[in-house]
Amino acid sequence: MSNVTEKTLVLIKPDAIQRGLVGLITERFERKGLKLVGMKMMTLDEAVLREHYAHIADKPFFPGVSKFMQSTPVVAMCWEGLGVTDAVRKITGITKAREAEGGSIRGDYAMSVSCNVIHASDTAENAEKEVKRFFKPDEIYGYDKSEYMHVYAEDERAV
Ligand code: PPS
Repeated sequence: MSNVTEKTLVLIKPDAIQRGLVGLITERFERKGLKLVGMKMMTLDEAVLREHYAHIADKPFFPGVSKFMQSTPVVAMCWEGLGVTDAVRKITGITKAREAEGGSIRGDYAMSVSCNVIHASDTAENAEKEVKRFFKPDEIYGYDKSEYMHVYAEDERAV
C-alpha cells in the first residue's frame, strides 16, 4: 500500500511518559506533515504484549520488556500519510538508541535498547496488523487535513 491513507502505529513507551516527552515526540511527527488519525492512553497486559512482541517472546529479555511496558500506561498513536511507515521509522531511529543517529527521536532522547521512548511499526504490512491490534475501527478518524496541499504535490495526494 502506497497512498496518502497508509497508516502506521506508534506507541509512546513508559520511559517517555515518565520523562514528560509525549508532547515533544508528537510534535516531531506533526511537524513532518503526518496526519494524526488516532490517539489514546492505554494499559497493556501480558497477552497483548506476547502478541505484539511475538518475535521476541522467547528471548531472555522479554520478561523485562513486558514488565517495563506495563509499568505505566502507554500512548498509542495512529499516523497517516504517503509512505508513513518508512517515514516514521526514519524519524524514530534504530532500536539500540545510544547508537541511533542524532536528529532521530531515539538518537536525541534515549540511551537504551528497551527504554527507547517509542515503538514504531517496521513494515506497512505489520503496521496494518498493529493498528488493528491497538485501535477499534471507530477509534480511527477520517477528516480532511487542509495543509495537505502544501505537504504533497497534487499527483501524490491522489489516492
Ligand atoms: S525492531 O525495532 O522491532 O526491529 O527491534 P527488535 O530488535 O525486533 O526488538 C523488538 C523489541 O525488543 C526490544 N529489545 C530489547 N529489549 C531489551 N534487551 C534487548 N537486548 C533487546 N533487544 C530488543 C526493543 O526495545 C524492541 O522494542 P520496540 O517496541 O519494537 O522498539
